[in-house]
Amino acid sequence: MLNVIELNAGYENRKIIENLCLSIKKGEIISIIGPNGSGKSTLLSCLTRYIKPMSGNIFLENENIYSKSIKEFSKKVAILSQHHSVTSNVTVRQLVSYGRLPHKKWYERQNEKDYEIIEQAMKYTNVLHYEDKFVNSLSGGEQQRVWIAMTLAQTPDLLLLDEPTTYLDISHQLELMKLIHTINKEKKINIIMVLHDLNQASEYSDKIVLMKNGKIFAYGSPKDVINCENLRNVYNIKCHICENNNKLMITPIDTCK
Ligand SMILES: Nc1ncnc2c1ncn2[C@@H]1O[C@H](COP(=O)(O)OP(=O)(O)OP(=O)(O)O)[C@@H](O)[C@H]1O
Ligand SMILES: [Mg+2]
Repeated sequence: MLNVIELNAGYENRKIIENLCLSIKKGEIISIIGPNGSGKSTLLSCLTRYIKPMSGNIFLENENIYSKSIKEFSKKVAILSQHHSVTSNVTVRQLVSYGRLPHKKWYERQNEKDYEIIEQAMKYTNVLHYEDKFVNSLSGGEQQRVWIAMTLAQTPDLLLLDEPTTYLDISHQLELMKLIHTINKEKKINIIMVLHDLNQASEYSDKIVLMKNGKIFAYGSPKDVINCENLRNVYNIKCHICENNNKLMITPIDTCK
């Protein structure tokens, strides 16, 4: 569904992503992991057209992502970025309804179908009961669910999430990871997300992209990618990995001297 070919990208003259190639199949959950500054968000920014590549191509279902208007593109791809905030006085329902914007002409009002989709998105993410509250009056975990509801109202084929669990406590992290998993399986939305938690990445992903210095160091199933040697090479850590009920459990032990 997504093919990235020899991508080079960065900021002004500084190249961050170097000759990156990646092929992602339909239906999968992909997690991008790697140290701070390794280029994870920059890669996501290229996939969402936030930054224009220096060279290379990105194809979504065999179409170059730059061949479409931004509006057409936004019908297919939704993003929840790493740093997002809402200005005051936006209610939950209003924010979720923004997800319908790519589907409407500027003069078009929302119709029954839009209302139905917005309602479903709020139900699905369990935010309907505070639909009239201001988003910035909610807790971090509640706000994150509202943002996810907005992306669902967009009815995309591909959802990109940059560190969706940051600032959430452990129970809200698990709840969000389960929600993302359900969205992928039930709504057949492809997911690409940046995660820092290696245990979560290995549990919830079909494939993992391990990045180092703007390049893909390893790509494959969690078991193929997450091993002590790769983690030492990329994060400079010693760790212990065990497998329990087909689940990897990664325990960092120390930094390498
Ligand atoms: N808007 C920007 N302008 C200039 N340089 C940037 C910008 N955003 C990121 N960079 C630089 O690009 C490099 C990669 O940053 P990026 O945000 O992609 O890393 P990351 O892997 O997402 O890190 P983190 O885990 O901290 O979120 C860093 O060296 C960063 O300083
Ligand atoms: Mg980042």
